[in-house]
Amino acid sequence: MNRGDWETKCSAIREHYQNAIGQADAPDALEDMQIRCLGRKGELTELLKSLKDLSLEDKKILGPLGNSLKEELSALFDGRKAALLRAETDARLARETLDVTLPGYPMPDGRLHPLTVAMRRMAELLGGMGFSWAEGPHIEDEFYNFDALNTPAHHPSRDQHDTIYVKTGKGPRLLMRTHTSPIQVRYMRAHKPPIRAFAPGRAVRNDAIDASHSPVFHQIEGLYVDRNVNMADLKFTLTTFMHGLFGPGAEIRFRPSYFSFVEPGVEVDVKCVFCKPGQHCPVCKSTGWLEMLGAGMVHPNVLKAGGIDPAQWRGFAFGMGIERLAMLMYGIDDIRTFYENDIRMLKQF
Ligand code: PHE
Repeated sequence: MNRGDWETKCSAIREHYQNAIGQADAPDALEDMQIRCLGRKGELTELLKSLKDLSLEDKKILGPLGNSLKEELSALFDGRKAALLRAETDARLARETLDVTLPGYPMPDGRLHPLTVAMRRMAELLGGMGFSWAEGPHIEDEFYNFDALNTPAHHPSRDQHDTIYVKTGKGPRLLMRTHTSPIQVRYMRAHKPPIRAFAPGRAVRNDAIDASHSPVFHQIEGLYVDRNVNMADLKFTLTTFMHGLFGPGAEIRFRPSYFSFVEPGVEVDVKCVFCKPGQHCPVCKSTGWLEMLGAGMVHPNVLKAGGIDPAQWRGFAFGMGIERLAMLMYGIDDIRTFYENDIRMLKQF
């Protein structure tokens, strides 16, 4: 190639790319074009490389010419690329125009179920008295639900429980636990006395549904085992607990009762908080008291089943219905409202 050819080629490149860059309308195509022109094997790059075959004199003139074309075209490429990107952004912004004055979508906030709220409150009160949280299985071994609780087979108190058994092949008979009391024994087997524990959870009995009964319900079990535990400790603990739930005016009374796993056994009533002087009270049916829970001193056989020596340790236990307490806390008169998932009811908690 001589100097004349070189100059012609240089002008041809200039003209071609000036036009082509001006007409390019896609950033990708422009990129390819830039590589074809200025890339390692690009047209202009090759032309600049070919300078080495020309004379020193030609190089002195053509070198700067070629380099200035390179700069010129680079600038054109960059400018066009920027313009195309800007156009793209402008188009997208125009398309995605957002009316920030439009009202937003409502975002309803979640709530805890009232039974959870009540249960946590109870847990907090017991926790404050040094009781720790325990749990047990919903599907329970017949042994823990009955035998270990001093309720041998064919004992009439089993009938009170309307137990739902789980069909199994071999092995121990399983059932839906009918109360949280089996957790007492499990806990004693896993911990050395002194023991202070509570266990909230679900229980199942094959009961008919009405305003105060549900076949699936919740209890909170309490267990205290130490050297000289007595009924006065039980009464103090439950009184403090009820004061926490219903206020310092709450009163409780013990009535003798029978549960195979305690001796003596009591049922505990709370003085009706709904009664108004001179009016009939539908909640306690004007008896003045509401039955709240079962309790008593842990039977020696139960301590033994839990691996604890009844000659050295004594304990009290109690078991209360969470629904029943929650109904009183919130003035709810029908247990079924807890399970119907009516948002108007759940929203209030
Ligand atoms: N487990 C008994 C029930 O479900 C309640 C209870 C617990 C009674 C602990 C005494 C001691 O009715």
